[in-house]
Amino acid sequence: MDVTEAIEKRQSIREYQDTAVPEEKLKKILEAARLSPSAANRQDRKFVVVRESGRRRELAEASYSQRHVREAPVVIAAVATRPAYVMSCGVPAYAVDLAIAVDHMTLAAASEGLGTCWIGAFSQEVVRGILRIPDEYVVVALLTLGFPRSPGNPKIRKPLDEIVSFETFRE
Ligand SMILES: Cc1cc2nc3c(=O)[nH]c(=O)nc-3n(C[C@H](O)[C@H](O)[C@H](O)COP(=O)(O)O)c2cc1C
Repeated sequence: MDVTEAIEKRQSIREYQDTAVPEEKLKKILEAARLSPSAANRQDRKFVVVRESGRRRELAEASYSQRHVREAPVVIAAVATRPAYVMSCGVPAYAVDLAIAVDHMTLAAASEGLGTCWIGAFSQEVVRGILRIPDEYVVVALLTLGFPRSPGNPKIRKPLDEIVSFETFRE
């Protein structure tokens, strides 16, 4: 599958089959995160792969009882290990870096026939506790992963004309 096809195919999947994710597919998805770029190539990031059902249940509770967090056979926590680093443009690098890594994983998963869903609604403190993540690190996102049981929603997006301008900014 080429990248355009993966971008078009990726949807947020919130219903999963009770089927394990094959190791070689998981490895490809984690490899996509490893190969993703980061500011100054600092790679200040870790990924925690959670498959144990009790721990997934705890993560689901920490995610305000989102059912798909419990149902997905794999949940990956994307952790920023140097959240204080701010780029010269004034933007903290960690959220950008981790967003790129997670998005690479969503596209790799789509090309492997797997579904994902970004999870940003969770308690930082509780998730840190469940996964034994040091307080100075930040969990930027959880990502559910598994074979879809039903498709996601059609993409609803603003038209290009509303979000793109050429040469100078336009409201
Ligand atoms: C940073 C971020 C956080 C999100 N958090 C959640 C979440 O906690 N739970 C959830 O079900 N979906 C979550 N989503 C999924 C969005 O709702 C979804 O991407 C959006 O509605 C567009 O739909 P699509 O992904 O199917 O194209 C999140 C997406 C992003 C990018």
